[in-house]
Amino acid sequence: MKALILSGGKGTRLRPLTYTGAKQLVPVANKPILWYGIEALVNAGVYDIGIIISPETGGEIQKKTGDGSRFGANITYILQENPDGLAHAVKIARPFLGDSSFVMYLGDNLIADDLSQYLDEFTTKNLDALILLRKVSNPSAFGVATINDYGEVLELVEKPKYPQSNLALVGIYFFSPEIHNSIETLKPSARGELEITDAIQSLLLSKKLVSARKLQNWWLDTGKKDDLLEANRIILDTNLSAENLGSIEEKSQIIGRVKIGKNTRIINSTIRGPVIIGENCYLENCFIGPYSSIADNVKLTETDLEHSVILESAEVLGIQQRIVDSVIGQRTKIHLALKRPKAVSFMIGDDSQIELI
Ligand code: DAU
Repeated sequence: MKALILSGGKGTRLRPLTYTGAKQLVPVANKPILWYGIEALVNAGVYDIGIIISPETGGEIQKKTGDGSRFGANITYILQENPDGLAHAVKIARPFLGDSSFVMYLGDNLIADDLSQYLDEFTTKNLDALILLRKVSNPSAFGVATINDYGEVLELVEKPKYPQSNLALVGIYFFSPEIHNSIETLKPSARGELEITDAIQSLLLSKKLVSARKLQNWWLDTGKKDDLLEANRIILDTNLSAENLGSIEEKSQIIGRVKIGKNTRIINSTIRGPVIIGENCYLENCFIGPYSSIADNVKLTETDLEHSVILESAEVLGIQQRIVDSVIGQRTKIHLALKRPKAVSFMIGDDSQIELI
C-alpha cells in the first residue's frame, strides 16, 4: 500500500496568506496542515508516500518536510508542472505508484478519524475505490455523492449547480490500480481539469467495486479563514498538552493548557489556554485568550488576543483593542504608536481584509 498526497495546485482561496507560501504549509496549532496527513498515514501503517508539488511552492514544501525520516516515512516528491486536476496528479504519479493500491490524500484536508478502519475495509473487501463522505451545508462547493438506502453509491458529480444530496466527498480516497484505466478515458471538465470525481464515476459505470463510508468525526477542508480558525480550535481542544520551555517573568500568569517553546519570554502577561506559543517569541503586557496559536519569532506587546492565529515573525505592538477571530500573516507588522491615534497609516498587500469593529 502506497500513499499519494496532493500538495500542488494554486491555493487561491487562502489569499493573501498563500501568495508567498503553500496553503498546505499553513499551520494549525503551529504545525503545517500537510504534516497531519503524513502522520495519519504513518499511524495507519502506510510509509511509502509520494507528494505532488507545484513549481511555485514545491521547494518550500520539500525543504520543510524533508525525506520523511522525521515521520518514519519514505517520501518521494513528484513535480506537477500545472494544476491540471486531481486525476492528472495521479496520472503523473504512475511511475511512483506502479501497480500498487494507494491512499490519495488532499494535502489541505484534515480529519479526526483514524484511517486504519477505512484501510482495513478497503483491503478486506477487495474494493476498487473507497470514498469518504460527510454532510455539508454547501454541497455545490464539493464533489457530491448520491447513495441509496443501502449506502450504495449511485452517482458522483463534481461541484454540481443543483446537488442531488448534501453528502460531500472528503479529500481522502482509497484506490486499486483500476483507477488508472478510468483516468485514461477522462476529458477535462468545464474548469479545465481532469477530475478524480469523474474517474470514480467511470468506475461506477463500468460496475467496479466502489463503496462509501460516512466520516464519524469532524472534517475540515481548510481552504478559508474561518475553516482555519475552526481547525485550530479543534486541534488545540483535542491534541494540546501543556509544556513550558520558555521563561515566565514578572507577574505573568499561565492558566489551563498552554504550550510555550524554547527561548520565548512572557513578561507581565496572562495566557489562558488552550494556547500554543512557538520558539523565540517575546510577549509583554499581553492577554492571550483561548484558542490562539502564535508561531515562532512573534513579538506582541500591549495586545489582547483571542481565537486567533499569528504566523511566523509577525509583530503586533501596542494595540489596546481586543483582537478576535483573526489570522495575521508571516512578517506582518501592526503597530499602534499613540493611545488615541489621530490617523492610521497602512501598507497592506493585495486581497487583505481589515475590519475595524
Ligand atoms: O476537499 C474536498 C474536495 O476536494 C472534494 O469534495 C472535491 O470533489 C475535490 O475535487 C477537491 O475539490 P477542491 O476544489 O477543493 O480541490 P483543490 O483544487 O482545492 O485541490 C485539493 C488539493 O489538491 C490541494 O491541496 C491542491 C492539490 N492539487 C490540486 C490540483 C487541482 C494538486 O496537487 N494538483 C492539482 O492539479
